[in-house]
Amino acid sequence: MISRVFLAGWLTVWVFCFSIAEGKVEYKVIGPSMPVTAEEKDDVVLQCHVEPELDVTNETVEWKLQDKLVYRYRSRTDDPDFQDPKFKGRTSLFLKEMVQGNVSLKLTNITEEDAGNYTCKVLKRKAQVTLNVGKVDPGHQEEDLEKVSTVKSGHRIYVVTIVIFIIFSVISRIFLWKCTVRNETAGQSQEHESKVLPGPGSDAEPRGSPLRHRSSGNSTTSPT
Ligand SMILES: *[C@@H]1O[C@H](CO)[C@@H](O)[C@H](O)[C@H]1NC(C)=O
Ligand SMILES: *[C@@H]1O[C@H](CO)[C@@H](O)[C@H](O)[C@H]1NC(C)=O
Ligand SMILES: *[C@@H]1O[C@H](CO)[C@@H](O)[C@H](O)[C@H]1NC(C)=O
Ligand SMILES: *[C@@H]1O[C@H](CO)[C@@H](O)[C@H](O)[C@H]1NC(C)=O
Repeated sequence: MISRVFLAGWLTVWVFCFSIAEGKVEYKVIGPSMPVTAEEKDDVVLQCHVEPELDVTNETVEWKLQDKLVYRYRSRTDDPDFQDPKFKGRTSLFLKEMVQGNVSLKLTNITEEDAGNYTCKVLKRKAQVTLNVGKVDPGHQEEDLEKVSTVKSGHRIYVVTIVIFIIFSVISRIFLWKCTVRNETAGQSQEHESKVLPGPGSDAEPRGSPLRHRSSGNSTTSPT
């Protein structure tokens, strides 16, 4: 009985995994949950990535500050056309990281004018990154970011666990109920069999075949 419950559990997990793999994957573009703060002349990385991981080296990536084009990547290379002159020679993506869906932008030698809301666009989806240029204790900022991201991932694991648990218990209940019903009918048909065919005659029918037991159980009304 215990092994059946385990089997039901494994089935549940597999069905769950397959439904995720088969279903249409919904990609999200994610930026940092907190503004990025830097000082003038610093280099900054504006974080942005696709979730779940996806090779985006063949996609178009666009970074904008309000309506100014900060950076565009197209046809597997930098596309300097229409780039705002203020950003010329100061922008780059991490090409190796793009295989994992990471389209973070490196912006060098920043000025006060660079401050504002950036949008990162890939796969027709957008994320926003706010850049503050000024003087704020950077250690404090990082600490806050870490806290937020742990809370978020913790929450997700919690939800997934509950969903798996619910599916697991429902399926194991159905399984257990089916097993009980089958055992009862099997028991009945065995009783019946021994009444109708006593002695060595019953050897002709092999035991342990559930299909046979079930079919003989159904024909209780016509034993002759
Ligand atoms: C990107 O395009 C190249 C050539 O067009 C192709 O060989 C490669 O498999 C593509 N990669 C992805 C991840 O789609
Ligand atoms: C993306 O790449 C940058 C630069 O290597 C790195 O700092 C950042 O952590 C990466 N982000 C993700 C989500 O992997
Ligand atoms: C940074 O930008 C300033 C102008 O905003 C320029 O004078 C300076 O040379 C730049 N520094 C580097 C390392 O490019
Ligand atoms: C940036 O976006 C935030 C909301 O996400 C908004 O409160 C703020 O005013 C925006 N800043 C600028 C310069 O547009």
